[in-house]
Amino acid sequence: MAEELKIRVNERLWTVAASPETPLLYVLTNELLLHGPRFGCGLAQCGSCSVLVNGVETRSCVTPVSSVADMPITTLEGLPAWYAAQKKLPAAPPLHPVQQALIDEQALQCGYCFNGMIIKASELLAKNPQPSDEQIRTAMNGHLCRCGAYPRILKAVHRASEAMAEVTR
Ligand code: FES
Ligand code: FES
Repeated sequence: MAEELKIRVNERLWTVAASPETPLLYVLTNELLLHGPRFGCGLAQCGSCSVLVNGVETRSCVTPVSSVADMPITTLEGLPAWYAAQKKLPAAPPLHPVQQALIDEQALQCGYCFNGMIIKASELLAKNPQPSDEQIRTAMNGHLCRCGAYPRILKAVHRASEAMAEVTR
C-alpha cells in the first residue's frame, strides 16, 4: 500500500507516495522524472540504474525506496553539484569531469551503460583520485557495456583523474 515517504535527491527533499518496497529506480523515473538512471536488467547485474547513496554506488533497481529515506541520493543529474561540493568549488560545473572526459575520448556509442559508468567512476575517483588501470577495471567490473567501449572508458577515467588533479592544484 502506498505511503508518504520523504527522500532527499540531489540536495532537494521530495515527498512521494509509494509502497515502501517500490524500487528506488521507479520512484526516481516515474515520480521525479529523473531519467539519468536507467532500467537495464532489473537484477543488480548491469549497473545502468546506479545512483550514489551517501556517496556509495547503489543499484536503484533493487533498492527499496523506504531503505534510503532521508539518505542523500545523487543521480546523474546532480553529479556536477555533488562534485562541486566535494571540491568546494564556488559553483557546479556543467558536467562532472568524468562526463567531460567520456565526451573528449569519444567513448560514447549507444550510451546505455553510461549512467552507471559515470556514477561508478565518480565514486572511484572521489576515493582514489589516481587509480591504476587495474583498480579502474576492478571498480568498473560490475558495469556492463554491450558496445564494448571499455578501452575508451578506461582512458576517460584516467583523463578525468588528470582533470580533477588540475582543479586541486
Ligand atoms: S537495471 Fe539495475 S543493475 Fe541492471
Ligand atoms: S556504449 Fe552502448 S552499452 Fe556501453
